[in-house]
Amino acid sequence: MGQGNRILLIVSGGIAAYKCLDAIRRLREHGFAVRCILTRAGAEFVTPMSLAALSQDKVYEDLFSLTDESGMGHIELSRDADLVLVAPATTNILARMAAGIADDLATTALLATDKPVMVAPAMNVRMWEHAATRANLATLEERGVLRVGPTEGDMACGEWGMGRMAEADDIVAAVEAFFRPKGRLKGRRALVTSGPTHEAIDSVRYLANRSSGKQGHAIAAALARLGADTTLVSGPTGQPDPPGVAVVRVESAVEMLEACEHALPVDAAVLAAAVADWRVADPVVGKIKKKATQAAPTLILTENPDILAALSNGRGRRPKLVIGFAAETDSVVENAVAKRAAKRCDWILANDVSPGTGTFGGDTNTVHLVSADGVEDWPTLTKRAVAERLAERIADSLDQTR
Ligand code: CTP
Repeated sequence: MGQGNRILLIVSGGIAAYKCLDAIRRLREHGFAVRCILTRAGAEFVTPMSLAALSQDKVYEDLFSLTDESGMGHIELSRDADLVLVAPATTNILARMAAGIADDLATTALLATDKPVMVAPAMNVRMWEHAATRANLATLEERGVLRVGPTEGDMACGEWGMGRMAEADDIVAAVEAFFRPKGRLKGRRALVTSGPTHEAIDSVRYLANRSSGKQGHAIAAALARLGADTTLVSGPTGQPDPPGVAVVRVESAVEMLEACEHALPVDAAVLAAAVADWRVADPVVGKIKKKATQAAPTLILTENPDILAALSNGRGRRPKLVIGFAAETDSVVENAVAKRAAKRCDWILANDVSPGTGTFGGDTNTVHLVSADGVEDWPTLTKRAVAERLAERIADSLDQTR
């Protein structure tokens, strides 16, 4: 996959530096060549020896090294790569990059490079949230610096929150995505559903679930990035509209089905919404007053249409590829296999949404891809990486039907 593309990996000084050792190994397994610059602070966490052994190359540390400069100077080093990756990227190096400071080999190479730069931030949650870090990242992103992670979770300092460096797998996925030919899905149409549905009880109250819409929105964004003409039908979420995606906002399952049918025909449909299975049979117009009801009101529910089954069974206008999700709390894969057969969709992405997993609302997801070919277990990935992997798989599958 890497086809010999060259990565210049800058390792700065954070506890997450240990993860870059695994990232080097995996990048090389994927066919990338890796050369490392280790900052002075980085050398407090990993040794040049480990980096050299894993990258199978010399490790560069010193801006003023005569031997390095006569072999490969900092300018050449910074231009010889196809991508410069800073992992971990500490608050300090991000600040120096944003300010254009060049006071060591790493920052000098970053200033001298004419190649794309990707950062994998790693820091304490307070540092991540600090206005200075926010401003520095905004500056860097405006200049086109790419970013992978961070994620939310336990930190080495004992706190919990955003700032954990992306896992090696996610870094490799982001690097691979960067090198993939763009526009694989040009000329294709895609439909994605996302978020929960709200089912009215009366004019102000509704039934809902905990879906955040993060996964569905990330899938729509990934399909659009590959060039697909993408429609996202979304229930109520706090997610921003993904760039380049036509977003249709709905509230209820009935509205969601109508909007999906309106978006047809499409080549691929990914139904990631957590659609309410039932709605209130007879929602009240206006607000149900407490005093008007002697006892607590009884809600009579009726079944909602199943959008996944409707699209999978849609004669004539069935998308070539219909993909559903299975949100499960027990026997995840078994239930997903049964769900795929019952709903007649092509693939099911099964995920465990039990309370301890943090899938609902969190930034990571552990999925199993169930298809006619069997079950594929994916590692725990960020929702963005799951989306990217899925979009590539959709492109592979549609390529076979051209
Ligand atoms: N789905 C749908 N319309 C519904 C219910 C579910 O399109 N009315 C889709 C979801 O978007 C998802 C898949 O069906 O892609 C499976 O959803 P899930 O909630 O896991 O399954 P259910 O069919 O609701 O079954 P159960 O609640 O019994 O697990």
